[in-house]
Amino acid sequence: QQRHGRHHLPWQASRDPYRVWLAEVMLQQTQVAAVIPYYQRFCGRFPDVASLAAAPLIDVLSLWAGLGYYARARNLHACARQVMERFAGRFPADAATLSRLPGIGRSTAAAIAAFCTGAREPILDGNVKRVLARHFAIAGDVASAGTERLLWETAESLLPASANMPAYTQGLMDLGATVCTRSAPRCAACPLVRTCAARASGRVDAYPSPRARRAVPSRRAWALLALHDGHVLLQRRAPAGVWGGLYALPQFDSAAALRRAATPSPTSR
Ligand code: ADE
Repeated sequence: QQRHGRHHLPWQASRDPYRVWLAEVMLQQTQVAAVIPYYQRFCGRFPDVASLAAAPLIDVLSLWAGLGYYARARNLHACARQVMERFAGRFPADAATLSRLPGIGRSTAAAIAAFCTGAREPILDGNVKRVLARHFAIAGDVASAGTERLLWETAESLLPASANMPAYTQGLMDLGATVCTRSAPRCAACPLVRTCAARASGRVDAYPSPRARRAVPSRRAWALLALHDGHVLLQRRAPAGVWGGLYALPQFDSAAALRRAATPSPTSR
């Protein structure tokens, strides 16, 4: 990692648990290139946990818009408020405390603790699951409970007894993101190529096992586009759901409901 890894990602400049937490939450399920501009905007607007906690949720959701997985933004805000209330604004950096806060799972807690305090904690995000599944030829859906348990045990057993934990943790992430990629992995450049079981079997593509596909729910809705003098009517949505709390075109479950809402009644004229 020290010779070939990534060293200039914006969040690597800080060991402040608040900044590292912000980056790690944004990086859950989202690639580095997409995160960087959001991370910089958030740091500019909310330089510390107090400013984030003090902001209305709608401001946090607006700044998050476009990054996806909006539950993360709600949890981010809830977490900042809890840190203010329960820890007097001092962002915790130990994995056990972190993992009890909203939006911080075991792997994110471990990454924050390893980066900020050098704690000896294993990480297991999507990229690391792939690296381990390949290196140890672990079959099975990585999202299933049994396979996930085995992967955690593997990640724990690999922790070096004494090492630079930030470099070790970043090295695993770098390997997954830049070498052991989902498609077209660069095995010729991999430092683990000689011990990789998937490579030895000639079946790197077979790991991790393909995930069982969940049926995608479908939903039909009608939206009202009401224009007046160059203005468009927006309505604040109810607080629940992906778009909860945000301003959007008024939405209806049926065309009839839309028509009723859009037809002025005699008394409203
Ligand atoms: N993915 C998750 N955490 C990361 C980090 N700290 N750097 C790069 N990619 C990541």
